[in-house]
Amino acid sequence: MTKSEIEKHYQKKKILITGGLGFLGSNLAHALAEKGACVTLVDPLFPEYGGNRFNVAGIEDRVGIIIDDIRSEKLMQSLVKEHELIFHIAGQTSHIDSLKDPFLDLDINCRGTLILLEAVRKFNPKAKIIYAGTRAQYGKILKSPVEEQDYMQPVDIYGVNKHAGEGYLWIYRDVHGLECVSLRINNTYGPRHQMKQANYGILNWFIRLALDSKPITIYGDGSQLRDYNFVDDVTQAFLLAGAIPETGGQAFNLGSGNPIPFYKMAEEIVAIVGKGELQKVPWPEERKKIEVGSYVADYSRFSRTTGWQPEITLKDGIARTVTYYEKYKKHYWS
Ligand SMILES: NC(=O)c1ccc[n+]([C@@H]2O[C@H](COP(=O)([O-])OP(=O)(O)OC[C@H]3O[C@@H](n4cnc5c(N)ncnc54)[C@H](O)[C@@H]3O)[C@@H](O)[C@H]2O)c1
Repeated sequence: MTKSEIEKHYQKKKILITGGLGFLGSNLAHALAEKGACVTLVDPLFPEYGGNRFNVAGIEDRVGIIIDDIRSEKLMQSLVKEHELIFHIAGQTSHIDSLKDPFLDLDINCRGTLILLEAVRKFNPKAKIIYAGTRAQYGKILKSPVEEQDYMQPVDIYGVNKHAGEGYLWIYRDVHGLECVSLRINNTYGPRHQMKQANYGILNWFIRLALDSKPITIYGDGSQLRDYNFVDDVTQAFLLAGAIPETGGQAFNLGSGNPIPFYKMAEEIVAIVGKGELQKVPWPEERKKIEVGSYVADYSRFSRTTGWQPEITLKDGIARTVTYYEKYKKHYWS
């Protein structure tokens, strides 16, 4: 699909984004608003998560914003009726927090997803749903790069619940005929990610530490491979997944094609920011137990189906992210 075909596809399309004031949701909202889509965002702005009103600065008059929770059945029933495409991006996203408060993770990531699916089944079964899945569904990969049909054994509550969320999609596809797609998203970084705490999005957090001239802590030797995607590439993946009919009913890995050791990612940040220093320390017990080692994704199924290729290099992506936060630091630092 060419860029102009995508533009045309989304013009005036009625789209709902759950978690739309967060990192991935708001970047997608900007792209859709630019294409003339009619976008509604639903997000409760829970303070510990990535929702931020500044994330929609510049498009706030062009998108509908509902400050509320997907776990409200009545709300979701009325919202799904009005939208033909739903990006289900809302979620509790911290691996560590999911172990500290497993029931909250269960409630948002599983019950919240079921409430949405039930609302679609009953009130708008023709709507297409794109789900934000995750690499955490695989846990420790047994073969590299990992393919969609490979063994999956998540190592934390977040991974189990996100995998269950995707599993619900397939039940609603097979039993009720809903059109569902899951993107198993990699470590993603870039503008509009929260910068308040270390538990979410480590690459963004390292950028904050470097900008603040603080030490950047690497657990162990940092040799594990990671497969980072810049957020604009993930936004483009969402757009293609929503627009191309052949994606329907399938799960897809996203990946970078350029995996690098964790410590090298941190070195890139220090080099680009020109501040900060790396410190290697032993793995803390709570982290060691849920560390999955190297992760590299085979994203050829998604490329074959949609033509998607990641375009932004890690160097370029980090530089763009640093420029964004240097400019808008006051909206993200507290
Ligand atoms: N960022 C990544 O690297 C990454 C990787 C893999 C998967 N994902 C998935 O992508 C999704 C978005 O992640 P993100 O990085 O943008 O996180 P984020 O915290 O920036 O965004 C998530 C948003 O969901 C909202 N939310 C939480 N509970 C909600 C509820 N009950 N009702 C409505 N909204 C609710 C939050 O307020 C927040 O704005 C998550 O589902 C996550 O599992 C992200």
